[in-house]
Amino acid sequence: MSSGSLVKNVLKEITAILNPVIPRASREAQLLLMAHLQCDELWLITNQNTEVKELEKLCEWVKRRAENEPFEYITNRVSFYSREFYITKGALIPRPETEILIDEVIKNVSNPHAEMTFAEVGVGSGIISIMLALHFPHAKFIAVDISPAALEVAKINIKKFSLQERIELRLGSLLEPVTEQIDYLVSNPPYIAKDAQLESNLSYEPQNALFGGNIGDEIIQELLNDVLRLRINLFTCEIGYDQQDRITNYLQNEKFEKLAFYKDLSGFDRGFTLRIQD
Ligand SMILES: C[S@@+](CC[C@H](N)C(=O)[O-])C[C@H]1O[C@@H](n2cnc3c(N)ncnc32)[C@H](O)[C@@H]1O
Repeated sequence: MSSGSLVKNVLKEITAILNPVIPRASREAQLLLMAHLQCDELWLITNQNTEVKELEKLCEWVKRRAENEPFEYITNRVSFYSREFYITKGALIPRPETEILIDEVIKNVSNPHAEMTFAEVGVGSGIISIMLALHFPHAKFIAVDISPAALEVAKINIKKFSLQERIELRLGSLLEPVTEQIDYLVSNPPYIAKDAQLESNLSYEPQNALFGGNIGDEIIQELLNDVLRLRINLFTCEIGYDQQDRITNYLQNEKFEKLAFYKDLSGFDRGFTLRIQD
């Protein structure tokens, strides 16, 4: 930063650096500086003439952001369902639409105090199991991921919320590491087709968290096979906006009680709940 290190000058300089690359550069500048100073917006606005310390670290953050690295990986923080979680490369950045999956599961459980066993396939940063564990105080969770790096992030978040006693992490594929009887399976699996064209900032995220196979829904189909074979009574799963028909067709000759799809806030199909029996 060349023109002095007062808050107002630093904000101007970060905005100028980010402007050619990032939309809403002045807002991003504020957010980066707030994260750096660990302050809120009111403090930032009312302390424009305060000196900013540790400029080297801030410059490094701005450089990474100017290369389009996601904000969350730079600051190691992400907000989900109004809670703050730790995040780093190696785990997918939680998306706001996954909050709807949480609401769907909550709607489907008639007694929130029941002693249930959940399994989650593809735990990533841990947000789904953690939010559900906070909502269902007597439930246990077995949370699986194929990625050791993702499990490390989940472990940190589970500890942050003091849920080590109720969320057990297991390394492996799909339900392979789960031998217990499960009441409810939840998953936000990878569901993008292998050759889909994606925005450049997605290249920072783990590719095995995004791509679900040649068509995209291969992992979802494997989970459906497991649910039907093991007669897991409830399964809520996030899907791609164009996958509803293929899932409906896949299940057309199977025996179950109910299949209900839900939409995201933009009106796109975003997931479903399969209930095996009433
Ligand atoms: C879309 S991310 C979801 C992460 C997190 N649950 C969330 O909603 O933000 C999918 C996760 O599934 C994991 N995964 C991919 N293939 C898997 C498999 N065969 N078995 C278990 N986990 C898998 C990835 O490592 C990734 O963490």
